[in-house]
Amino acid sequence: MVKSRIEYLRRELERHNYNYYVENRPEISDFEFDALMRELQDLEAAHPEFDDPNSPTHRVGSDLTTEFRTVKHRFPMLSLGNTYSLEELGDFIDRIEKEEGEVEYVCELKFDGTAISLSYRNGELERAVTRGDGEQGDDVTTNIRTIRSVPLRLQGDDWPSLFEIRGEVLMPYASFEKINREREAEGEQPFANPRNAAAGTLKQQASAVVARRGLDCTLYQVAGENLPFATHSESLEAARRWGFKISEHGRLCRSKGEIEAYIAEWDEKRKTLPFPTDGVVIKVNDFVVRRRLGFTSKAPKWAVAYKFKAEQALTRLNEITFQVGRTGAITPVANLEPVQLAGTTVKRATLHNAEQIALLDIREGDMVYVEKGGEIIPKITAVELKERPADSQPFSYIDRCPECGTPLVRYEGEAKHYCPNQAGCRVQRIGRILHFIRRKAMDIEGLGEETVELLYENGLLHDVGDLYDLKAHQLSPLPRLGEKSAENIIRSIRRSSEVPFQRLLFGLGIRFVGETTAKYLADHFRTLDRLMTASRDELLETEEVGEKIADSILEFFAEEENLRIIERLRAAELQFAAEEKQRASNALEGKSFVVSGKFSIARDELKRIIEAHGGRNVAAVSGSVDYLVAGEKMGPEKRKKAEKLGITMLSEEEFMAMVAGAEIPSALPSNEPQETNIITETAPIQGSLF
Ligand code: IVH
Repeated sequence: MVKSRIEYLRRELERHNYNYYVENRPEISDFEFDALMRELQDLEAAHPEFDDPNSPTHRVGSDLTTEFRTVKHRFPMLSLGNTYSLEELGDFIDRIEKEEGEVEYVCELKFDGTAISLSYRNGELERAVTRGDGEQGDDVTTNIRTIRSVPLRLQGDDWPSLFEIRGEVLMPYASFEKINREREAEGEQPFANPRNAAAGTLKQQASAVVARRGLDCTLYQVAGENLPFATHSESLEAARRWGFKISEHGRLCRSKGEIEAYIAEWDEKRKTLPFPTDGVVIKVNDFVVRRRLGFTSKAPKWAVAYKFKAEQALTRLNEITFQVGRTGAITPVANLEPVQLAGTTVKRATLHNAEQIALLDIREGDMVYVEKGGEIIPKITAVELKERPADSQPFSYIDRCPECGTPLVRYEGEAKHYCPNQAGCRVQRIGRILHFIRRKAMDIEGLGEETVELLYENGLLHDVGDLYDLKAHQLSPLPRLGEKSAENIIRSIRRSSEVPFQRLLFGLGIRFVGETTAKYLADHFRTLDRLMTASRDELLETEEVGEKIADSILEFFAEEENLRIIERLRAAELQFAAEEKQRASNALEGKSFVVSGKFSIARDELKRIIEAHGGRNVAAVSGSVDYLVAGEKMGPEKRKKAEKLGITMLSEEEFMAMVAGAEIPSALPSNEPQETNIITETAPIQGSLF
């Protein structure tokens, strides 16, 4: 009884999901949908014995963080040759037609997201793997389940019992803008573009976060053994019947002219699409022809991507203003007449530095071309000189800090000007405090930019050391605060004393020490005191730390004011040491390793095994290194250096033998066994794709 009701609800909810997210044709109201969902949630909670990972209740995700396992693709995920020119595209067609005569092509949009491969077994989603390096990727199934347009169970019954379907996880512009607004409000770095946002979201460790991000998934390739299709278009039609979201915009073309017309049409129309595209993919339709054409070492010879040129917009540059960062770096900003560009409204563009402005002779009042590159902030690529106002004046760059008036300086090798007044420049001081309280650093809530400025102006907060002496009664009389929020702020500050060492280290705002470097430093030195007294050479032994970072760390700890602040943070009992990791064994205690080359498992995984057994990972080969674990294609320089220094070299097998017997904790990802019964490893992959 209960079981059949559960099954009925799951079927119904999935049907409505499909109607809403794939067909855009809801049959019931959100309210009715929610009622069915709640009924299912209640029944599943009362009957855990009927749980199923593909139940629609799992689409809301969970707060549990998952470690992604690395898994090998059943068929490699290849890339495409690409071109920006119609001429080269013509060569591609000519080459094919020389061998095959006239053939049919399918033109599709090139979706600008992140590639995904979904496996379905017996009509149910089994796993979802990112492209990774094409050979192996991350298992992100839990996150993919939260994307409403991905069917968890297929419709109909004529699907192969096992197949893969590939496509693109996309972030629509609307979701992208919403997320970035939220991130900026939280003091977090916004995503540079929807593609990064989609990829970053899929790697989110809490699927509940993914569920809220509004991702979509469009599929464009069915892969499997002995599939019953003769053409690509047939396979996509079948996939559409099974419930997948397949783009409506694909088109069969029979000549160069038709292909060019498709490209011209979509180069224009794509501006009206709610998600990003960056080109057109042209594929031979017939699988027999595809098989004959074959592959190069990297890409199929039967498909090519034509990439659109970046979109440009022409608009007026109203004013050039300047931003002072927390490190004193000055960035000139172009304030533009708002203009639509690649799906979003652009109001500002970066001008990089003084040289850039001089090079393009950019002036206030000019009409300028703006373009979006990979960066979040668009750039100005040219000035429309024909439209330059008659009274236009060359722009003269500032020579003093717009905030504190200090003469600006230029450091060797740096294109930017800097305000050297680190101690006295208000914006830099406030910037450092804002960086410290960021979510990725100390995560102090309730203290936004305005409040920090308010506390600063009122003499309550000069630097991050002051934070831990603040009292609620000092905050509550200030405008917009009140008792309740004052108490919340104080509570959040107190709570931050539990924040792990690596995030405190990131929060200190040492120039060039980002999140990842902070983590490596924390892992390597374990305590702030050891880091503070480290020599330049010791710093250079750390993963990812080169000379620029090492010098910046030394400089930071040589500064009196920084030392004073650190002592106050110590008094506030913040975490000055890394947590002891649970170890699998002490087999590698005291030994340092350099890992280099390709292995049967991901390199990061190997490094984690080293750490789990008490060993230390080091970036570069030097006299103090004990072992070099050498994989395939290791650079010859490394090998030479290791030989010269007499460092023991280990193969992957020899290394594994060192830790064999010692138990590996279950948190470590393991490789999924190859399913050799289904796809033979040696089968010509090209031939078996379709
Ligand atoms: S077909 C063997 N079709 O572009 C090639 N790819 O540069 C299979 N992409 O990794 C890919 N839209 O992430 C294909 N309609 C489309 C696509 C598409 C976007 C991406 C995909 C692939 C990359 C290749």
